[in-house]
Amino acid sequence: MTISNTSPEKRTSGNIVLVGMMGAGKTTVGRMLAKQLGKTFIDSDEEIQKRTGVKISHIFDVEGEEGFRQRESCVIQDLVKLDNIVLATGGGAVLKPDNRAALQANGIVIYLKSGVHDLWQRTRHDHNRPLLQTANPRARLQELFEQRDPIYSAVADHVIHTGKQSVQILIARLIKKISAQDQPRQAIHTMQTLNVGLAERSYQIHIGQNLIRRIDLLLKHIPHKRVAIVSNTTVAPLYLEGLSNTLAANGIQVQSIVLPDGEQYKNSESLNTIYDALLSNRCERNTPLIALGGGVIGDLTGYAAATYLRGVPFIQIPTTLLAQVDSSVGGKTGINHPLGKNMIGAFYQPQVVIADVATLNTLSDKELRAGIAEVIKYGLIRDLPFLEWLEQNIEKLLQRDPEALQYAIVRSCQNKAEVVGADERESGERALLNLGHTFGHAIENAMGYGVWLHGEAVAAGTIMAADLSRRLGWLTQQDVERTKKLFTRSGLPVQGPRLGTEKYMQLMGLDKKVVDGKIRFILLKALGQAVITDEVAIELLGQTLESCSV
Ligand SMILES: NC(=O)c1ccc[n+]([C@@H]2O[C@H](COP(=O)([O-])OP(=O)(O)OC[C@H]3O[C@@H](n4cnc5c(N)ncnc54)[C@H](O)[C@@H]3O)[C@@H](O)[C@H]2O)c1
Repeated sequence: MTISNTSPEKRTSGNIVLVGMMGAGKTTVGRMLAKQLGKTFIDSDEEIQKRTGVKISHIFDVEGEEGFRQRESCVIQDLVKLDNIVLATGGGAVLKPDNRAALQANGIVIYLKSGVHDLWQRTRHDHNRPLLQTANPRARLQELFEQRDPIYSAVADHVIHTGKQSVQILIARLIKKISAQDQPRQAIHTMQTLNVGLAERSYQIHIGQNLIRRIDLLLKHIPHKRVAIVSNTTVAPLYLEGLSNTLAANGIQVQSIVLPDGEQYKNSESLNTIYDALLSNRCERNTPLIALGGGVIGDLTGYAAATYLRGVPFIQIPTTLLAQVDSSVGGKTGINHPLGKNMIGAFYQPQVVIADVATLNTLSDKELRAGIAEVIKYGLIRDLPFLEWLEQNIEKLLQRDPEALQYAIVRSCQNKAEVVGADERESGERALLNLGHTFGHAIENAMGYGVWLHGEAVAAGTIMAADLSRRLGWLTQQDVERTKKLFTRSGLPVQGPRLGTEKYMQLMGLDKKVVDGKIRFILLKALGQAVITDEVAIELLGQTLESCSV
């Protein structure tokens, strides 16, 4: 059999198709992958059983393999017309050229490849596999593998070896592969949806152009036809009226609360302004609060939602890059206290996050760059291929190329969702997201909030963390230079203000990342691999602070 290896032009469907032998794990992996990416999972064998009302083995008994393959083809031709699905196909689905063409044209095809030994271990006790009902099923499996392996490889856009790794790791690898190579090629103007998996607190992040006009995304979260929107004096004139009018046109009663703009207003006074407005309007427990703005509005509104009447539903519509890639996802809410930033707060997850990439068109260059600092952070802490992508595409981000921006937001949110899903309350891995923040908070604190933007302080802080990692022998000088270069190209500072070592130490001691009197640092073992450590020698820290500030 000859198999075409040329990839036909793909329809931009958002579909992912899993192919591979029986026992390769297509159903298990497909189900979890779909959940994580906010897609619908469909198993073609289950669909055939649903349509016929009988088991696959019965179809084989009555109609033979050829009869089954015809039914399978009809089902596949129907299913590939859908959008945004993860499709697990039967092991023999790729045998017909028409099926191969349909799968390739309508989705990203992944071959889940396992060795015959593993496949045999997983299928040997399963008596529902018609093709293995022979005198020597092990030999039959070997034969099928030899026949089909080249076909799977040829039809696939990516081959993933299943091996002995856990399903979670396999999925993380799969998502990285898919997003690294295929997302920029997809129609990025279509909305992309990610899932933050937190059991009953799970929610979706929608990312795309002009989503603020997609009222359907909001309506299902406002069942009682009443909502309060919190914004500020900069964002409200740009987006509040449009949003309120659309909601009102759909029969929703809207209350607007507009706060002064600035980090200095992320305080208890603004919080009280929100409470006062909600109480005087008799907002009830089922009235959602919408945060329309950057991280300041998101953190404040989230904390108000967590505490008003002991908790009301919360919706995030982030309008800065920093808020879209970081603060709106993960449920950290709070306000500043005169004695420390973000010292008062709660973990409180939103019902949904709607990131409208088009709102970034009105953002100042300086704020855009501050957001890019957090984007680079994901590459540095856990996603080297993304870091490499950023090195190639940073100018596109600075020029606000919509496709590049959407890709960077999706990729950042995927990373954040994975981390938050694994460690919601920052008992371990989530702390890695604070790379550069111990130094950064010291800078913000010393200069007075709002003088250095959060992202700018994080950029300088990240270079300090990289420098300290080099002094510990983890990064090379070349790694540090490479990191500096990316921040510099992004127009971000790579040196902190010269506060003096003592002042830095004092300010870092105030930081909430202090555990048992020791300062915890997030450092880099390598580019793309952050670690938490509290074993930093004070002399090395002093040298870093000295050499990384001007
Ligand atoms: N909760 C978290 O996990 C988390 C993570 C990171 C940062 N944060 C917090 O986020 C805050 C920083 O967020 P930020 O950088 O978004 O700052 P911000 O909210 O102050 O917004 C920056 C500026 O941009 C303006 N703006 C917002 N959207 C705009 C738009 N579309 N067009 C024009 N102007 C617009 C704002 O009015 C403001 O002047 C800090 O308080 C930080 O502590 C929280």
